[in-house]
Formats: sequence, C-alpha cells, structure tokens
Amino acid sequence: MASGADKLLAFYAAPPADISLDEVDLDRLPRHVSIIMDGNGRWAERRGLDRSAGHAAGVDSLRETITACVRLGVGVLSAYAFSTENWKRPRREVELLMDLFATTLVAELPLFHQEQVRLELWGDLSALPAKTYATFCRGMDETAGYSTMTLALAVNYGSRAEITRAARHIARDVARGILKPEDVTEEALAKRLYTADVCDPELLIRTSGELRLSNYLLWQIAYSELYVTETLWPDFDRWELLRAIRAFQGRERRFGGVSRG
Ligand code: FPP
Repeated sequence: MASGADKLLAFYAAPPADISLDEVDLDRLPRHVSIIMDGNGRWAERRGLDRSAGHAAGVDSLRETITACVRLGVGVLSAYAFSTENWKRPRREVELLMDLFATTLVAELPLFHQEQVRLELWGDLSALPAKTYATFCRGMDETAGYSTMTLALAVNYGSRAEITRAARHIARDVARGILKPEDVTEEALAKRLYTADVCDPELLIRTSGELRLSNYLLWQIAYSELYVTETLWPDFDRWELLRAIRAFQGRERRFGGVSRG
C-alpha cells in the first residue's frame, strides 16, 4: 500500500514551470485553509455557457482542493458555498445550486469515507430544501467519527447573522442564569459560533480577483493571511493551492506584535 508521502508525491507530480511541491514547507502548513469560491458565473459566461455549468465545474475544483488538502495534511478546509444573500439570485439558479449540493454530496461521500474526511456545515440549514438538508445531515452523520481532515461548507451562511445568533444565545444564557455578564468573553462568544469546533483560518483564499469579504467569517479571520487570485474558481487547482500556501509561508505573521526582522 502506498504511504502518505508516496501519495503526496504522486498527486503533485508533473508541476508547471512556476511552482512545485519543493517550494512549500510541509512542516509549516496552515492548519485551516478557507476559501471564498468565486467566479463560477464568469467562467461559464466566457464560454457561452449557462451559469450552472460554472457551478458544476466548480465542484471539480472543490474535489481537487479537498484531495490536495488531505494529501498535504491540512487539518481543516472550509469553503463558502452559499451566502444568506445568494437567495437573491434568479430562482432557477438557486434551485439548481441546491440540487447540485445534494447530488454532489451523495456522489462524493465515498471520497469522504476513503479519505476519512469529517463533514461540517456552517449556516442556517433549516431554510434549505428538504432534499439538500437531508443529504447534508446524512453526510455529517456518516462522517462524524473521522479525523483526517474536517471539511466545512458554509451554506446559507452570513457572518453578521452568525454573530447575532451567538449574541442571542449569550443573552438567553445570561437571562437563565447559566452565564454571568462578567463571563461574556471572546471565548464565550466564539464557543457559540458555527465554527466552535475548529481553529480560526490561518489562510483565507478568494478567487476571481474580488477584494471583498462578502460577510464571510468576519470574527474568525481577525488574524488570517489573505490571498486573492485572479483565477476563477473552476480553474483553481492543486497548483493554485500550492501558490497560495507558498505566499502564506512567505508572510511574517505578527498578530499585532512587532516585526522580528
Ligand atoms: C460563486 O460564483 C460561487 C457560488 C455562489 C457557488 C459555489 C458552489 C460551488 C463551487 C459548487 C460546489 C459546492 C458544493 C458545496 C458541492 P459566482 O456565481 O458568484 O460567480 P460570478 O461572480 O462570476 O458570477
């Protein structure tokens, strides 16, 4: 049976001219990589295709990125799949996306089992169509015991709604006497966010060149390194991920302190 190192070398064989596996330090990988997957629509429109073709192609990029993170040994990969604002899209596009989430989840479950990937969902799932909701629940149930990597998908997620929800939980706990006002700390709030189970992202990638956070993980990315690439999400691949990690490793992370240089 091939070892983890063999699998990694095979996965990253045949590099392009500007990047190779040798350029990243495998001992200093970001523990949590988070991605704002953007540009599916533009990718499709540039090819004269329906936007849904861009979302379908985006699934291939997500699968490749999941595999790349597993091979590298990244502990948490999270991705923004559908925002609380995305309901404003044409009804047909929303329906197709919800359908795509459900069919993709079912199709990719064998990969999660094979690679022992635990699925987490962030967002208000109660508003999702029944089939999508049930599929997500099945995915979370079936993978709950895995620990190779956590894949978190943000679906019907908005950071302001998440923080508001956490504040409401705190207010309720204070009202019930479970929590004292002086115990309302950053940790107490963080424990009530969807992300309570994982460390904050160390690297946040946004594709398609937009310089926005789009209401994504506003609390959790306080000290994340940001990496924006012009590449549209359906063109994002294992090499783009390595370029992002190389850039991350080239940064000096000061967390508000002073430069060591
Ligand atoms: C942004 O591109 C992308 C989305 C809103 C959907 C992301 C969904 C996928 C990548 C499908 C796979 C996901 C799962 C969870 C199976 P956009 O439509 O905003 O692109 P544009 O800015 O070019 O219009």
